[in-house]
Amino acid sequence: MPDTVRDNKMVELLNEAYGKEQQLTAALELHLQSTTRPDYEKRLTDHLKETKSHAQAVSKRIKQLGGTPAEVSLPGPESVSKAAQGMQDRIAKAKAAVQGPLDTVRGSGEQQRMIRNARAEFEEEAHEIAAYTVIDSVATAVGDKETAQLARGILREEERMQKYLGDLLRDLAVDMAHDEIPVSEIDGPAARRSSSRQKSATAR
Ligand SMILES: [Fe+2]
Ligand SMILES: [Fe+2]
Repeated sequence: MPDTVRDNKMVELLNEAYGKEQQLTAALELHLQSTTRPDYEKRLTDHLKETKSHAQAVSKRIKQLGGTPAEVSLPGPESVSKAAQGMQDRIAKAKAAVQGPLDTVRGSGEQQRMIRNARAEFEEEAHEIAAYTVIDSVATAVGDKETAQLARGILREEERMQKYLGDLLRDLAVDMAHDEIPVSEIDGPAARRSSSRQKSATAR
């Protein structure tokens, strides 16, 4: 137990954030497996690393303040690995399809799935941004400089990820329209795939 009410309050707020980071580590690992777009996959991998380091840094600060990091109970390793295995198979197929002629990819729902994941990630980043904004503000207001500094450092990475996802959603939305709507009905940019897609298509 922390010695002071002040530290106790910080531990309470930090533990909330710690729970979210643990949850997101699992979510990002799953999302990574259904991502067929290389730039997105790279950014997810990077943010997964960041997320793990956020969890570590927050847990360390909780201990420094005399608190106990609250572990979140996630589905057991067995059910996760089973789900992951089924997912792996589907992803192997999806990736194989992407490497084939462009037409086989159309209508596969791949874009829809990626959009669903990217939207969820965008929302989660907003959740984290709000949480660390509160932690930074409370810590600054009560003179806990170390916690404030930690929160601001993490905040910058969450904001960068959210910005990336916001831009990505625009690209994915164009691709989804391109895949689902007949070109004859399109009077706009969705007549072609988004730019990074075109790049990877011509590189083939
Ligand atoms: Fe985070
Ligand atoms: Fe994040």
